[in-house]
Amino acid sequence: MDREEALDSVRANVENENTVKHMLATEAIMRALARRLGEDEEEWGITGLLHDIDMELTDGDMSSHSKLGADLVREMGVAEAMVHAILSHNQAHGIPLETKLDEALFCADPLTGLITAAALVRPDKKLAGVEAKSVKKRYKEKSFAAGADREQIARCSELGLELDDFLELGLKAMRGIAAELGL
Ligand SMILES: [Fe+2]
Repeated sequence: MDREEALDSVRANVENENTVKHMLATEAIMRALARRLGEDEEEWGITGLLHDIDMELTDGDMSSHSKLGADLVREMGVAEAMVHAILSHNQAHGIPLETKLDEALFCADPLTGLITAAALVRPDKKLAGVEAKSVKKRYKEKSFAAGADREQIARCSELGLELDDFLELGLKAMRGIAAELGL
């Protein structure tokens, strides 16, 4: 499956534009991580792009979220390593994170929310003016974007990345697609 097919599948299954943007942001961070770590950028990027494809089909039911998504993308012919990352990113199923790809998706997913919120509290609501150090400050404010699980973001250590490094990488990656994100 190429990127265009993946995005078509996302659009066919997800109407909420914010959910689509979250998946695009996750893709951007996954691509940046793959480049940093010398991994397969298309594989990692498309995994990020597809990871919440079942969000509306499961209607927020965490007991089926990511299981249905994994079945869906498997039927589309997506490689099993990518299917496993999508399946395991929802830890409600207790499926262990086994690969770097699994770990990358797991920590990139909540970082998009933290960075988006850091942009939205600015008067101009733009990513351009968000600095890496302000993302770090927001990270430490537990009540800020509380849904962005800090422990999950900190799992970047499993990829050998320092937290500061990961926050900056995520910020730069999302800035690179700021227009698409409307930020
Ligand atoms: Fe997600």
